[in-house]
This record gives sequence, structure tokens and C-alpha cells, in this order.
Amino acid sequence: MSTFQMAPDGIDLRKVPFKTLNNGCKMPAIGLGTFGSDHVSAEDVAKVVGEALRLGYRYIDCAACYGNEPEVGAELKKALDGGLPREELFVLSKVWNDCHAPEKLIEACKKSIRDLQVGYLDCYLIHWPFPNYHAPHCDVNSRNPESRPYIHEEFMASWRAMEGLVKEGLVKSIGVSNVTIPKLELILRDAEIRPAVNEMELHPTMQQGRLFQYCLDHGVQPIGYSPIGSPARPERDRTPEDICDIEMPEVVSVARAHGVHPAVICVKWAFQRGQVPIPFTTKAKNALGNLKAVTEDPLTIEEMEILASCERNCRLIKGQVFLWPGAESWLDLWDVNGTIPGWTGYSK
Ligand SMILES: NC(=O)c1ccc[n+]([C@@H]2O[C@H](COP(=O)([O-])OP(=O)(O)OC[C@H]3O[C@@H](n4cnc5c(N)ncnc54)[C@H](OP(=O)(O)O)[C@@H]3O)[C@@H](O)[C@H]2O)c1
Repeated sequence: MSTFQMAPDGIDLRKVPFKTLNNGCKMPAIGLGTFGSDHVSAEDVAKVVGEALRLGYRYIDCAACYGNEPEVGAELKKALDGGLPREELFVLSKVWNDCHAPEKLIEACKKSIRDLQVGYLDCYLIHWPFPNYHAPHCDVNSRNPESRPYIHEEFMASWRAMEGLVKEGLVKSIGVSNVTIPKLELILRDAEIRPAVNEMELHPTMQQGRLFQYCLDHGVQPIGYSPIGSPARPERDRTPEDICDIEMPEVVSVARAHGVHPAVICVKWAFQRGQVPIPFTTKAKNALGNLKAVTEDPLTIEEMEILASCERNCRLIKGQVFLWPGAESWLDLWDVNGTIPGWTGYSK
């Protein structure tokens, strides 16, 4: 047992379930998101990380592009100095789109390790399968003329660098994010070290049933991002058709039956379905509520069915800013016709 001071209302760690990844590593079945959606300061995100660690969170979902790894790292360091054993933590980070070139990727990983002050990463992801950079805080119409569609050979060059990070001991597990079945098929075919996780958008109105099942069938653990439907997401990720999960009558009525906020029901549904949710919050009270969502008062089979019926294929993080010249719409990023636009074949 660590000497780390838990908050008096924190969760008994033995109650927080784990997932075992395809390489035998264990990851907590819930994490804390750290994307401030362009409006929560790095200091405020870091403050919640510190509080969440004391409440019993052990998986912190980070990324270089969130612009707050040094501040989050200071909180991780405080916890480690305060007696939290490093092996209890599960720290995940992601390489940003402007660092896909192998040498840059390795440097980016080392920088995240330095900024987060954790010695090694438990998991490192390629944040998007496109090397298409957009500036922070850009708007929805922003396009980079150098953007390109998915090029599998280039992705695999980045993946070889990811595999090298594991071999060097800088990273325990590696994974992907924002990929589709056609892309994952190619990656699984060619990877020497298979992705352990896929971080994907998952909430009651965006269930991605086929991709979710494909991941499970191939030993890739789904991590569900924006599990509450990201109600405070940046302006560039909002369109008039978007549905608000926490206002869905089904979600609200289940929440009423459990006497909790609809956000907590989204987290319960995610956990019970089998993805690892990573809710973000600015408030310790909500962080605690979300953690308790996986340790007490589960949803019934009937309630899980009600929530399953909320599927609307409502993608919130459409990724318009990653589009390349000639792309028709953001749907091109998601291989909606079952093929990868512009990709015709690949010789190993
Ligand atoms: N891989 C990727 O490309 C990708 C993309 C997007 C997100 N992510 C990751 O996923 C994480 C979570 O997604 P997200 O930040 O988009 O949104 P989210 O977790 O779906 O929603 C966060 C919002 O929900 C509210 N909330 C949280 N818990 C609540 C509770 N118990 N009661 C009431 N309201 C609650 C928060 O408000 P309060 O602050 O008021 O609590 C906040 O506005 C990110 O932080 C990031 O780590 C990854």
C-alpha cells in the first residue's frame, strides 16, 4: 500500500476494475481526460489532475497537443514525491500530427516523458492517422494546403518508430486513435507489435458498433473519448445537427431513476459496455461522481438496452481541419464507404 495521501472521500482502489491489454499490461477501466477544449487553462486542468489522483484516478489521458503536459506533469511529480508508486499510475500520451516522421516521433515521445515527469509512458498513441497539422485554436474552415490523405506506408514508418519506443523501454504499450476498420486491418496486418488500444469517439449517440466489435475481436481495447458527448467542446467541433447526449430523454430518465446527473449515466454505460471512458471535468465533485460510476450502483440490463437505443451515429469530433485539398467532406476522414479514399494498394 502506498503512503500517498488519498482524499477522505476517495475510492478504495481495490474497487476500481482493470482491463488486461493484449500484451499483459493492466490499465484502469476509467481515466481522466485532460483536453481543456481550448478554453480551460493548463493550470486548471492540472489542478483537477492533482485532485483526481487523490480521489483514486490512476489513468490520466494526456496529449502533447493539449498544451498542458508540463503543468499536468508537475501534479504527477507531486503525487509521486508524495508516495504514489509509479507502477500504480497509467499515464497515456499521444504524438501530434506534426511529429509523425520517425525521428520527430521519438523526440516527441521523449519530450512528453520529460514534461510529464514519469520516467516512461504506460501507453503512447498516434493521435490521428494523418500527418495533417492544424494550429491550436483554429476555426472549422482552417485548412493546411500540405494536408494529405492516409498513406499507409508513411503510417507504418511512424508505427516502426512506435515499436522502437517499446523495445527501448520508453513506453509499455502503443496504440492508435481515430482509425477506422479499413485502416486498422492494414495496421494489424503489418504491425510487429500490435496496437493495444484504439482511442475512439464513444458516447450513447455515437456507439460505432462495428468498429467497437472489430477492436474487441482483434484484442484491441477500445478507449472511449468524449464519453459525455463533450458538451463544452470547441466551436470548430459544433454543427447544428449535433445531438446532446446528456439531454436525450432516455439518458435523463435513467439518470433520474439513479438520482445522478445524466453525465454519470453516460460513464456507467461506457464502462458496462466495455470501453474505457475518459471523462474530462473541471470539478473534483464531478471527477468523484464519474469514478463512482464504475464502482457502485450499476445499470440494469434493461437500462443498458434503453441506452443502446440512443445510437444516432452522431459524430461530434468530425476532424474537418485535417482535410486535404480535393477531399469532399469530413466523411472522407472516416472511410464511410468501407475503403480509404485515395489509397489503391500497398506493397510490403
Ligand atoms: N483521441 C482523440 O482524438 C480525442 C478527442 C477528444 C477527446 N479526447 C480525450 O477525451 C477526453 C474527454 O472528452 P471531452 O473532454 O471531449 O468531453 P467529455 O468528457 O465527453 O465531456 C466533458 C464535459 O462534461 C462535463 N462533465 C463531466 N463530468 C460531469 C458530471 N459528473 N456531471 C456533470 N457534468 C460533467 C464537464 O463539465 P464540468 O467541467 O462542469 O464538470 C465537461 O464540460 C478529453 O479530455 C481527452 O483526454 C481524445
